[in-house]
Amino acid sequence: TTARRDVLVIFGITGDLARVMTFRSLYRLERRGLLDCPIVGVAFEDWTMDRLADRARESIAATGEEIDESVFGRLMHRMSYVHGDFGKPETYDGVKQAMGGAEHPLFYLEVPPNLFATVVKGVAGGGLATNARFVIEKPFGHDRASATALAAELHSVVDESQLLRVDHYLGKVGLEEIPFLRFANTLLAPTWNRDHIDHVQISMTEAFGVDDRGHFYDPVGALRDVVVNHLLQVVVAVAMEAPEPGDRASIGRRRTELLRQVAPADPARYVRGQYRGYREVDGVADDSTTETFAALELRIDNPRWSGVPFFIRTGKKLRATETEVRIVYRDAPSLGFGLRGDHPPSNELVVRLGPTFGVRVALAAQRVDTARPELAELDVGFAAKPGEVPTPYEVLFEAALAGGGMRFASQGTIDAEWAVIQPLLDAPPEVQAYEPGTWGPAAAEALMGERGGWREPWIDG
Ligand code: BG6
Repeated sequence: TTARRDVLVIFGITGDLARVMTFRSLYRLERRGLLDCPIVGVAFEDWTMDRLADRARESIAATGEEIDESVFGRLMHRMSYVHGDFGKPETYDGVKQAMGGAEHPLFYLEVPPNLFATVVKGVAGGGLATNARFVIEKPFGHDRASATALAAELHSVVDESQLLRVDHYLGKVGLEEIPFLRFANTLLAPTWNRDHIDHVQISMTEAFGVDDRGHFYDPVGALRDVVVNHLLQVVVAVAMEAPEPGDRASIGRRRTELLRQVAPADPARYVRGQYRGYREVDGVADDSTTETFAALELRIDNPRWSGVPFFIRTGKKLRATETEVRIVYRDAPSLGFGLRGDHPPSNELVVRLGPTFGVRVALAAQRVDTARPELAELDVGFAAKPGEVPTPYEVLFEAALAGGGMRFASQGTIDAEWAVIQPLLDAPPEVQAYEPGTWGPAAAEALMGERGGWREPWIDG
């Protein structure tokens, strides 16, 4: 086991990730009484503590949250600020001083990937890397080869066991709950295989566009932004084998094992779309062919899943913002009895991952008033009481402060993810235009063949 962290050092505290994520998450953790160490912010800008506090306050207030001054005061009391160039040894002298005598530091790198190695080297050069953990954020490369090169560069200065790679889906409510549901329910576990499941639909649709992220998004696109990481982790949550009892670390190994059994994706089963108006977004090239929509089919080459397609779709400017996994069971038998003798619809199990969280089981039921078999939907929320559930970044901060573990992706996982997607990067199909407010290009529907198409997502209320 690894020791609890006794200081949190955030490189890039004046940046965008801190503005949209870090301050809010730390504030909420503080409110829940889960912070117990000093926090050191580091950045190039010569900011005062007042300026930092203003930024923190704006960023928390932007969520619409009313700030509890005593919580905010406690959070700011933990914080100190060091400014300096990440390439200069003096900066790390300043960091060392701000760290006090801490022996188990957590360094959170909110800096572009081309600075990862600079910061890690600086930390090591300052004698601060012993027992340290380093959190890094995507992108982990632009394709399989560059991901391998990045890992090699990091491994030249730090051990793999010290690296905590963020995929915020690993902190999302629902991802750990899927294997729990499956393995804890005698009703479900025996049916979780090719004998009973016809196909799986994973849908992450977003009603909003690329908006102010054009510079970031245009060189990236949907496949790299969310499929190779987040949506593959949803596939893993559905398809992985059970971890070893009492060994939470084995969850990471199970994930990688499953990813290695996913067949390299087939470009003929990949649809790329771009919403009309995308090329006018600031930072996007006039003739951009970047996809803002992706739909694809994956296959898993193992005895449990052989022959079961996993369909994935995601996109910006679609009809609704909704993320769900839908397990569609095989065709029900013809019954030859019942009120009208209609063929019963197939069972579905839906796990909703956003904006709210829960499970829906759809059972074929004969409705006496309409005199026909229909899917009756049984809904259960993941939270026992309505109210706040922790956001992914809170979960990840908490896990990192506790020393790391299964909430983070290993290089083995990252490499296996790129291996699945690489053929699509090598031979991308033409991008097809789609109208904002639709479900994307028609070809995404056709991908599904005779399976009844993408189901209308489970929209609450
Ligand atoms: C991010 C992507 O990693 O995930 C965004 O960069 C995307 O483009 C977001 O919108 C989706 O995350 P969530 O948790 O809202 O489903």
